[in-house]
Order: sequence, then C-alpha cells, then structure tokens
Amino acid sequence: MMSDAPQDRQVRIFDTTLRDGEQAPGCSMTLREKLRVAKALAELRVDIIEAGFPAASPGDFESVQAIADADFGPVICGLARCNPEDIEKVHAAVRGAQRHRIHVFVATSAIHREHKLRMAKEEIIRSAVGAVKMARELVDDVEFSPEDASRTELAYLAEVVTAAIEAGATTVNIPDTVGYTVPGEFDELFRYLKRNVPGIDDITLSVHCHNDLGMAVANSLAAVHAGARQIECTINGIGERAGNCSLEEVVMALRTRAEYFDLHTGIETTRLYPTSRLVSSITGMHVPRNKAIVGENAFAHEAGIHQHGMLQHASTYEIMRPADVGLSRSNLVLGKHSGRHAFRDRVRELGFELDEFETNRAFQEFKRLADKKKDVYDSDIESIIMNVDSASAGPWHLRTVSVRTASDEPAQATVVLVGEDGEEQTGTASGDGPVAAAFQALERVTGVELVLRNFELHSVSIGEDAQGEVTVTVEHDGASYRGQGTSVDIVEAGSRACLEVMNRLIRRDRRDAAGRKDNSAGRATI
Ligand code: KIV
Ligand code: ZN
Repeated sequence: MMSDAPQDRQVRIFDTTLRDGEQAPGCSMTLREKLRVAKALAELRVDIIEAGFPAASPGDFESVQAIADADFGPVICGLARCNPEDIEKVHAAVRGAQRHRIHVFVATSAIHREHKLRMAKEEIIRSAVGAVKMARELVDDVEFSPEDASRTELAYLAEVVTAAIEAGATTVNIPDTVGYTVPGEFDELFRYLKRNVPGIDDITLSVHCHNDLGMAVANSLAAVHAGARQIECTINGIGERAGNCSLEEVVMALRTRAEYFDLHTGIETTRLYPTSRLVSSITGMHVPRNKAIVGENAFAHEAGIHQHGMLQHASTYEIMRPADVGLSRSNLVLGKHSGRHAFRDRVRELGFELDEFETNRAFQEFKRLADKKKDVYDSDIESIIMNVDSASAGPWHLRTVSVRTASDEPAQATVVLVGEDGEEQTGTASGDGPVAAAFQALERVTGVELVLRNFELHSVSIGEDAQGEVTVTVEHDGASYRGQGTSVDIVEAGSRACLEVMNRLIRRDRRDAAGRKDNSAGRATI
C-alpha cells in the first residue's frame, strides 16, 4: 500500500474523448456534437476535458475555443507539439475557460527519435524544456507527455521527466502510445520514476494507455497502484486503432475494488450509461453487447442457476448495481396512452434536461413511435432525444416513405416530404434495393446528391417491433458526412439518416450564401 496522505487518494479523470477519441477513424464530430459531449462530460464530473489539438486544423481550433468559452466547469486542455506556434494556438483556444491547461508532448523512444523525429536525446530534452517553459509563461497549469514512454530507455525517460519538472510542468503524463506494455512492467516503470525523479511527488503523475493488446484499463490500474494520480481515458474507450483506456471501466474498477486500491475518483457514476449512449449515438461507434459496464448485456443474467441466485440475493452474481452506472431501468416504460407528464418525468429520470421546445418535439416523436410500437423502452426514449435536435431542424421533414420490392425487378420507392412552407412534395425512384430507391427519391425532392458509402443498422431496444437505429456514411463533393435516423422500419430509419445529412448541407449552403451576400455588402459576418 502507498504511504501518501488521505487527500492524495483521489485519482483525477482526464477525458480525451474529444481529442484522442475523436482522432479515431469514423469518430469525428461536428462542433455542435462536441459541445454536447463536453457538457455531458461536465455532468459526469470529469476533472479535465482535453478538447482537441488546436493546431491540427482551423475546425479543431474553433471547437476547442467554443468548449473553453462555454466553460462547463472542468479544466479545459488543448494539445500542442513542442513548438511556439502550437503552444500559442492552444493558449488562444483555451483561455476562455476559467481553468485551462496546455498539454505539450514530444516522442522520446529510440524508435521515434531515429525514424520519426531524427533528433538526438539532448535535442529532445531541449525542445521539451523550451516548450514547458514557454507554456508556463502563459498559464499555471502545464502538462508534459513523453510520447511512447513505455518503449523509452528507463534512465533516459527519468532524465526527460526530471527536466520537464524543473522547467515547470505541473503534470507529467506517461503514455503507452502503442499499447505495448503489460501491467507488471508498467507498475515497475512508475515505481522506477517515483524513485529516480527528483520533485516527482510535487507534481501530478498521469497515465495514458492505448488498448492494442486489450490491456489499457489493466495498465492504467497498475499505474495508479504504483502512484499515478491522473488517468487519461475516453468514453467507451474510443480512440486510435484499438482505442484508449475506457473511462467507465477504469472508474468502476476503482470504485468496485476500493478496498484493494484505496483510491477514489470524483465521477458521478450514474451518468456513465447516458454519457456512453450519447457518445455512441453521436459517433456511430456502437458499444458491443458484452462490453463491461455499459454493454446491453453487462447486467443481464441468462443462466437459470444465476437467475435463481440473483433472486435469493443480487450479490451472488452482481458485483455492481445497475443503478450505480445509471441503469436504473424500469424496463417497460411508456405506451401510446402515456401522457405528456409521464413522458416528461421519464425523460428527467433518464437524466436529460430539455427545454419546453425540445420537450414538445420529443413528445411528438414519442407519440409517433408509440402509434407504431406497443412498448416504448428507455432506450427508445434516449434515441428520440439524441435525434430530436437534428430531426427538427429541417428544411425538409419526412412524412412517409413507401417501397415496393420483388425479387425479379428493381425496387420502387415513393417519399413524401414537407417543406418549410408546409407544402408536400413527392419523389419517386427505382433502385437496386429499397434503400437505394428511397435515397434516390429523396435526392429528387431535395436536389442534394449523395453517394452512400456505409449503412449500419443497430437495434435500439428489444422485441420484434424494436426500433432500428441506422447510421449512414455518405459522400458529397468529395467530403464524408454521417447521419442518423431511427424507426421501427429500416428503410424509414435509413431515409431519416440520409435526410438529416441533406438538411445539414442545405442549411450550410444557405449560411455560406448569406455570408457571401453580407461580405459583398461590406458588412462583417459572424
Ligand atoms: O498516445 C499518446 O502518446 C498520446 C500523447 C499525445 C499523450 O496521445
Ligand atoms: Zn494517445
């Protein structure tokens, strides 16, 4: 057992869903989506949000700045390479948040030194020291990461970390960048640094693990057991390649095995499940059913012997209560006779705060669904709320879609859309299958042409009449977009997903056109 004071038993949770997570293929988010995730992370009470890498693109800069300006509560951090331009950009982006941090990194392993950076050991130390000093002149809170630390020679790693601390780093993060280490070895690495780096007890020691060998959570736990007090992680473990350390797993491991670790976090664990759903719905990265903590089957007991035990006493087979992670589900919730009041109460119990307008839109969608589906489950309601924003924005709304298919002829689809003026417009098309036909019918009415690249279907709830959540990835003018739609009918769900992207593109083109008009009139535009 470590001998640090009781106040040092808190492990800070540094969430990098919006930076390392968002970097993963297929996980990119719009600014609006990033703001929703940042707000949810604040409600989850993470300590630090790494909001992005401002030097990566103007879009990244803008989203880090918007999240910092919204200032939801946690420390807002941005990532920078060890150069003045990157550091200045992070500073400009994060300074709107009351508490903000600059995170600088440089690779230190021999492989990276020789093949990527072509820099000598001393040069890397000089670059790290220069960057940390510059960042410290701008802010009080500076994190330093030696990238690929787990494959760096131990003595050299200690030298780099010592220099970074002397230069003013307040947090030193040790990344297992390629997910190479194993728990016993990583434990030794942290103990080695604790013994060999002067001043290490005066800063926050952090860990950042990737999951290439499926050990990101185990390695992060080994690090905190050996003295680290910050864990870098992402919701649902999303991230480059096999992903990062999963926030929900590492937090619940610390909580469930508190008698072993004697550590705690400030996470509001009842927000874990809703936050996981939000991130999977926004990114389209579905959580496997058997995923620990937030998977659909994580608390399901099938075997008769287990069910019998559970009925006698839940602790026979359950080490966590579903309610502790936000799964206080009454399973069957509402039906078509449920009123507004019952709906609004359930929405609140699920942890959502909707304003009057959003409640009205969500209630209309609920009624539409309850007409088609006997039992409306919590997951159906969550899905309505996740999609209500985009569905309500227009300009086009889907009234009906009907398809006719036969095995020996092309499918025929007819869509009826309602425009902003309330007028209905009908489009008809044929295609290789009902989805392709419906998409073409939508294109005929909206005038927006898309190329379908991917179509993913996921069941929202259970039963024969379960809703399907469709995520489409489409291309338009060489750029890729993702849309989502939900319905008990797969073709309708796909059409809603496709229409969501079409609406977004129309709105964007209108905004661009308005901007051009304003500019040509010599006025500033926002
Ligand atoms: O994996 C990694 O090394 C990183 C650093 C930038 C912290 O993401
Ligand atoms: Zn990483």
